[in-house]
Amino acid sequence: MASVSLESVSKSFGTHTVIQDVNLQINDGEFVVFVGPSGCGKSTLLRIVAGLISASKGIVSIGGDDVTDVPASQRGVAFVFQSYALYPHMSVARNIGFALETLGLKRDAIAQKVSAVARMLKVDHLLERRPRELSGGQRQRVAIGRALVRQPEIFLFDEPLSNLDSDLRMEMRMEIAKLHDDLKTTMIYVTHDQSEAMTLADRIVVLNHGRIEQVGTPKQLYHAPDNRFVAGFIGSPRMNFVPVTMRQAAGAGRIEGPGGLSLSASMQTSSEPVAEIGIRPEALRLVAADKGRITCTLERIEDLGHEHFGYCRIADDVIWVIRLATAPEHDLIGTRVGLDFSEAAVFVFDANGKRLTVNHPSVVKAIEGTGR
Ligand SMILES: Nc1ncnc2c1ncn2[C@@H]1O[C@H](COP(=O)(O)OP(=O)(O)O)[C@@H](O)[C@H]1O
Ligand SMILES: [Mg+2]
Repeated sequence: MASVSLESVSKSFGTHTVIQDVNLQINDGEFVVFVGPSGCGKSTLLRIVAGLISASKGIVSIGGDDVTDVPASQRGVAFVFQSYALYPHMSVARNIGFALETLGLKRDAIAQKVSAVARMLKVDHLLERRPRELSGGQRQRVAIGRALVRQPEIFLFDEPLSNLDSDLRMEMRMEIAKLHDDLKTTMIYVTHDQSEAMTLADRIVVLNHGRIEQVGTPKQLYHAPDNRFVAGFIGSPRMNFVPVTMRQAAGAGRIEGPGGLSLSASMQTSSEPVAEIGIRPEALRLVAADKGRITCTLERIEDLGHEHFGYCRIADDVIWVIRLATAPEHDLIGTRVGLDFSEAAVFVFDANGKRLTVNHPSVVKAIEGTGR
């Protein structure tokens, strides 16, 4: 097991800067997830940790040692990729044990380690099969086994579940979480899927255009995003936003927006004016048009059985999604409705997308309860 530290790490391909001044400390035994949209630099950053590509600038340390110039094979890391390129002509057992063969271990020792790993990953009944005789999930288990057998200091996963269908993805997600619970090895896991990040991570690193937007526990990112990007990226369906203006009236500030939206500006403690507010679909309640904090037109309802989503037009170019436990009457579609919510559920942002802090006790409480 080992800690990982990145100090001022940057990477350019030609003139194209892909990673910009990344500073990050990963603790020994921690499960850290890199998440962000496609092309934001997740794989590049993971490969820099692995030593598969070198940083253009900065220092990479593992277990306190500077490994910036140490080759991948000597870093004590094992990599699991999205496309698990198993050797097609080798049995499962040989695929898992191959790294040990190349290290020159004795056949008995290899067989012992392979069978222990295979048991752990529930592929011990498949050891004689060839990869083509396995399902996608079984192949991915073998790929994980191949990494596991080397007893690495650090596991690196790059979107390992993206090729699997959704049921299998759930199942493998649980297996990987359990693997971490059992082994307590440091793991860094890359995904573009925020729900995978939320369920697996001790801490999440949100990347965007090669920069870290925020590092925090899943709860911190959900309840206290630093900015609009993180607020919109974490949570599904995503947070609803609407531009607002600040107005001073009779000495008190108000935040005003479309649909009759008017909030007290006491929510705001910073001197920066609020430019936009955000509210999550699960924080909205459907009420009569004259009862809500905002009025809108209910345009559409999606029925998923256990939950329902309403699509409400707030303004010409703004639609909010609302999560409902029970389906509203269908004759409400196309009519004016109200949305109600508590002020504590409102996130406020300045013109640069920075979240302005709010002093609501309920928000503070949620953020404080983040120890995992
Ligand atoms: N070897 C390379 N040469 C040039 N550009 C690259 C190379 N590898 C990645 N990139 C670019 O770097 C950016 C980040 O890529 P990547 O780290 O793969 O993103 P992610 O894994 O988040 O989808 C992309 O714009 C990609 O095109
Ligand atoms: Mg990638």
